[in-house]
Amino acid sequence: MLIRKAADLTYAEVTPKAVYLNRRKFLQAMGVAGAAAVAGRRLIELAVPGRSALAATKFSDLVKSPFSTSEKQNSFQDVTHYNNFYEFGTDKSDPAKNAQKFDTSNWVVSVEGDVAKPRKFTMDEILKIAPLEERIYRHRCVEAWSIVVPWIGFSFGNLVKLVEPAPKAQFVAFQSYYDPRQMPKGRWAGIEFPYVEGLRMDEAMNPLTLLCLGMYGESLPNQDGAPVRLVIPWKYGFKSIKSLVKIKFQSKMPPTTWNLAAPNEYGFYSNVNPNVDHPRWSQAKERRLGEIFKRNTLMFNGYGDQVAGMYSGMDLKKYY
Ligand code: MTE
Repeated sequence: MLIRKAADLTYAEVTPKAVYLNRRKFLQAMGVAGAAAVAGRRLIELAVPGRSALAATKFSDLVKSPFSTSEKQNSFQDVTHYNNFYEFGTDKSDPAKNAQKFDTSNWVVSVEGDVAKPRKFTMDEILKIAPLEERIYRHRCVEAWSIVVPWIGFSFGNLVKLVEPAPKAQFVAFQSYYDPRQMPKGRWAGIEFPYVEGLRMDEAMNPLTLLCLGMYGESLPNQDGAPVRLVIPWKYGFKSIKSLVKIKFQSKMPPTTWNLAAPNEYGFYSNVNPNVDHPRWSQAKERRLGEIFKRNTLMFNGYGDQVAGMYSGMDLKKYY
């Protein structure tokens, strides 16, 4: 898998788009011995010590998703420099600065709980679960800004089927990586770590729920949740947990970080809902990064056709 030790290369240097568009030229230019094939997909991969097996990986042969929006995408610069990743600091610009040395090599995701086949997945194993798709989703943060991002991954349900959950598994609990030595800023973030999140089983199995490995054609930058995160486009952004290390199937509704921090402000469901205001601000409108005028926020962030049925009969003011 690993091709060449390249301690001197930075992430930016190994992924310039003009270079990797021409694979052969790229390999010659970098003096790289070859390209790796994973699950029939062509990957160009460089081994950069201290980075994940996926670092500096350009994905090719991506399947186009019918779930993609045709709305204008935000720039890579926007999406990688305006982040919430409190383990690396609470300012929007902190993760881009402070996550650069985050070591995501030898990453393992443990899948456990009420399942017939608990197991630990390496990143190479996760890559082989299903064909990688490009999904261009609207992403609406609870702070009333939004972005449009070409994520890369596959429906989380593909992983779920491999571990065979028991009927009593009604919920899925998710946990992020946390290492105070690598994430010293986390101490002042004001929330508890590791970051935890949860979904009801039907939400987890909804095809829109994306197990995300990349964006803009390449592996996830550290500040966006490398090497693997969730993206749940009809929920506020904080449900989309980053740098996943544990997935647990269980009968009880799991605790979630923001609900633990402020239960009157953040509920378990956290579906995007312009009709239910946050106690301290309106959710009726949002500002798309890069735009001046606010736009109306859509119920379920515009994904109602695919998800509204899961909440029929539920009072979404009570279950916020
Ligand atoms: N995951 C972890 N582990 N830590 C975090 O602080 N922030 C959440 C979510 N996932 C967060 C996290 C919030 S509040 C948002 S809005 C999204 O990540 C932001 O994702 P983005 O930076 O890729 O836009």
